[in-house]
Amino acid sequence: MAQHRKLGILGLGRMGKCLAEGLTKQPAFSTTPILFSTRNPVPGAKSNTELVKSCDVVILAVKPQNVTEVLTEIGPHLGKGKTLISIVASISTAELENGVAKGTSVVRAMPNTPALVGEGITALCAGKSASPAHLEIAKEIFEAVGKVVLVDEKQMDAVTGLSGCGPAYLYVILESLTDAGIKVGLPREVATQLASQTVLGAARMLQVTQRHPAALKDEVTTPAGCTIDGLLELEEGKLRVTLIKAVVQATKRAKALAKKANVEGAK
Ligand SMILES: NC(=O)c1ccc[n+]([C@@H]2O[C@H](COP(=O)([O-])OP(=O)(O)OC[C@H]3O[C@@H](n4cnc5c(N)ncnc54)[C@H](OP(=O)(O)O)[C@@H]3O)[C@@H](O)[C@H]2O)c1
Repeated sequence: MAQHRKLGILGLGRMGKCLAEGLTKQPAFSTTPILFSTRNPVPGAKSNTELVKSCDVVILAVKPQNVTEVLTEIGPHLGKGKTLISIVASISTAELENGVAKGTSVVRAMPNTPALVGEGITALCAGKSASPAHLEIAKEIFEAVGKVVLVDEKQMDAVTGLSGCGPAYLYVILESLTDAGIKVGLPREVATQLASQTVLGAARMLQVTQRHPAALKDEVTTPAGCTIDGLLELEEGKLRVTLIKAVVQATKRAKALAKKANVEGAK
């Protein structure tokens, strides 16, 4: 990251830690000071106000219900020359802009936890206050821990439902495939390796070949072979519709949380 910048992470919970650890592992960030603050003091933590005063880029990584209190505290200390990147689900850039000093550049990001191992995916959108240069700062940060896509803000809840929550869905699939391996006689360690590398490999096939998943599936499915028997079970178990419904429900929840945050913020 540009040498002169100081990066702060406000809220060192699951996602804040993932980003902090993910970024410190990246050579591009080896010389970037990364400061952090938490609610309950931990060694090395700054106060929220100190953090905001000493950093030009602050990543807001608290729960949606804590945003109002945090913005009341830090809002006046932001302003021109400061970029606030919020990873908070369901809180819009307009709401964030309302809570901070004029001139603050606000960017919204929805990362996911594989950022910890450099394989995250983050969707970004700029607030009215942010220029392409501010979006570029956010891009630089999140590209250090995975891939980045730019979206319209109205798509952010959908991103939350798909890639924000997605690792959890895939852990359930991975756990099930591993258990399946054990059921058919494989040692747990071998089953875990087979399941995880198969998911990783299939995902890479999709990215590298850029072919439709159905075409890739058809290629593995030989007439009267084993795969078609497995696929029939998946169809009977309604895997497709279940996964679609999981994303739809999580997206609805993200929208509902946004409404709730609006109501509570207005109190
Ligand atoms: N987890 C994910 O996979 C994921 C993915 C994408 C986006 N997000 C978003 O990331 C945000 C954080 O999620 P999380 O899972 O990391 O939550 P979390 O584990 O509960 O972490 C929240 C953090 O915020 C801190 N905090 C709360 N109030 C604070 C205050 N007033 N001042 C300073 N720090 C404060 C907490 O500090 P204490 O520990 O000291 O209380 C905690 O470290 C959420 O808005 C979520 O929507 C999460």
